[in-house]
Amino acid sequence: MEDKGTFWLPPQASTTAHEIDALFNFILWASVIVLAGVTFYMVYYAWKYRRRSHADRPVDVHPSKWLELSWVVIPSLLVLVVFFWGFKAFVSAGIAPDNAYEIRVVGKKWLWEFEYPNGTTSVGDLYVPVGEPVELVMTSTDVIHSFFIPAFRVKHDAVPNRYSTIWFEVKEQGEYQVLCTEYCGTSHSEMYAKVIAVDRGEFNEWVRTGGDDTSLPLPRLGEELYTQQACNACHSIDGSPKVGPSWLGTWGEERPLADGGTAVMDANYTVEAIVQPQAKIVAGYENAAMPAYPNLSERQLAGIVAYIRELNGDWTEEDAAGGEAPADSVAAASPEPAAEPVPAE
Ligand code: CUA
Repeated sequence: MEDKGTFWLPPQASTTAHEIDALFNFILWASVIVLAGVTFYMVYYAWKYRRRSHADRPVDVHPSKWLELSWVVIPSLLVLVVFFWGFKAFVSAGIAPDNAYEIRVVGKKWLWEFEYPNGTTSVGDLYVPVGEPVELVMTSTDVIHSFFIPAFRVKHDAVPNRYSTIWFEVKEQGEYQVLCTEYCGTSHSEMYAKVIAVDRGEFNEWVRTGGDDTSLPLPRLGEELYTQQACNACHSIDGSPKVGPSWLGTWGEERPLADGGTAVMDANYTVEAIVQPQAKIVAGYENAAMPAYPNLSERQLAGIVAYIRELNGDWTEEDAAGGEAPADSVAAASPEPAAEPVPAE
């Protein structure tokens, strides 16, 4: 039966989730019982000992030693239970098994990048084998982010210049949402990723090929990359401004640059902007600090160019029939090294 989760908690998709949930439920219901008891007696005694006439005088109260002791001892016991129970869950959630499969995670404004042991990288999609422990070794290139997979009950900050780790073992194949839970800037709320848990065979195949799908037409590949590579966190496709310039509306135009020059928004410019974002920054976006994507394949770059052209009505029947983008737009697009990064002022 599929685990749908409860009112309070999402499905328990990892092997350690039940420990966290059990403790959460204990604290929740202990708190509810204490709250109900305290509230009940508060209201009851307020009513019972209300002033009945102007002549009422309070009686002398002699405290009961046992009653006094009980509200020292019982809460102390409860707190100790929570401490030891929590410590046990903390240790089992915090220390990965020796045979865990290691994947590196880098948080950047505003995307999650994953690197597998063979060098394959992906952005936004974290493929993992189901039924095996996976350890994530995380860091950040800019600010503090926080990697959170609610269904696995794991969360940890990704901090610049240091490594933090989490681990999990996924119980069932499927897709699970990843969130950033540290306020890291403008597009914090859109810093999503997905865990895609697949069986070992499919996982091996994915890691080997890097997930490149050669059967997709270029614009569709670009459209897929738009969300997969988290371009959508900073670039809209409807012309509205976000952190970066929109992909709609400026194709083929000459645009003013931050350093005072101009650049035509064509395939060469687009590819350079992806691989070396700091080389030619469009005026007004000096502080947007886009991360570089040096690991995209030629076909992936061509796909993004094709998608942008299609958005702007520049992708014709012939382009589609030819499959690949015309030679003059992409073939010569391996970017030259940037002279000097444009200093952000
Ligand atoms: Cu990264 Cu919030």
